[in-house]
Amino acid sequence: MTVGIVMGGYSEESIVSLKSGDYFYTQINKSKYTVFKITILKDGWNVIINDQKYPINKGDFSFQWNEKKIHFDVLLNTIHGNPGENGLMQAYWELLNIPYSGCSFYNSALTFNKRDTLSVLKKFNVSVAKSVYLNKGDHIDVDSIIKKVDLPCFVKPNQSGSSLGVSKVKKKEDFLNALDFAFKEDKAVLVESFLEGREVQVGVIKYKGEVVVINTTEIISKNEFFDYEAKYLGASEEITPALLSEKEDKHIREAAAHIYRSLNMTGFSRLDFIIVNEIPYFLEINTTPGCSPASIFPQQVKQAGLDFSELLDNEISIAIQ
Ligand code: DAL
Ligand code: MG
Repeated sequence: MTVGIVMGGYSEESIVSLKSGDYFYTQINKSKYTVFKITILKDGWNVIINDQKYPINKGDFSFQWNEKKIHFDVLLNTIHGNPGENGLMQAYWELLNIPYSGCSFYNSALTFNKRDTLSVLKKFNVSVAKSVYLNKGDHIDVDSIIKKVDLPCFVKPNQSGSSLGVSKVKKKEDFLNALDFAFKEDKAVLVESFLEGREVQVGVIKYKGEVVVINTTEIISKNEFFDYEAKYLGASEEITPALLSEKEDKHIREAAAHIYRSLNMTGFSRLDFIIVNEIPYFLEINTTPGCSPASIFPQQVKQAGLDFSELLDNEISIAIQ
């Protein structure tokens, strides 16, 4: 079986994604599959073999190697952000009839849109922060927004990852700058209330037809919040499993599984929450969670005593069924 590990992407998260892709490549069982790395980057789509680039034919997602045309039987996708976490690549692969890992193109598009995910999940009684949604060009009434969400608040691009474009606003005077910063990443912005609590992230997968909660991780950021620096440059402490009370642990695992089921997800996911008074408030779901060796999802897998290569086998078997 010919497997392509797809990594990169067009956003600033591509650097993280290349690391996630390399991790998949080191972990996948190469005695079972013929494995190729595929990079989808702004400057081109290529298969990488021994540091050489072999361009992907966009008509059928094949490539030419040793005078043969190679087609992929299945793709393991680990692009973060656009176009591999928001459903664009998934819809294209679907049209080409190439099986891919993770959730469907529709679920990718839905879950990459923070506002739409929150509004769907409210129907399933999931606790979320108060929020205000703004489009570029909207009339901005700072006082009424702040009245709704209070200070401090978070200003986030509606569609983005790794906290790019995110600010914590403590003073009204800083609000408009935060808005400009977020609008650099996306045409829409979500302003959310600050939740005073503990940040806990939960890894969830579908395994043999069952929704399985892998593990919990508490994030203790040395910065104001779990921003890009805290995520990737070590300015945070990550505790796996999170040291929660029995009740908190039960609530957050139930909430994560409930959300995963309600959204009809498949594939690797990491759900981010803030626990306030034992209640988990949902922030977002990441459907191609960071998988560099230092990322949370692989740490959770390892700590739970699970075998990452077996989880990749499971992803492949779900994709091709
Ligand atoms: N968007 C990053 C890669 C994450 O959620 O892990
Ligand atoms: Mg995210």
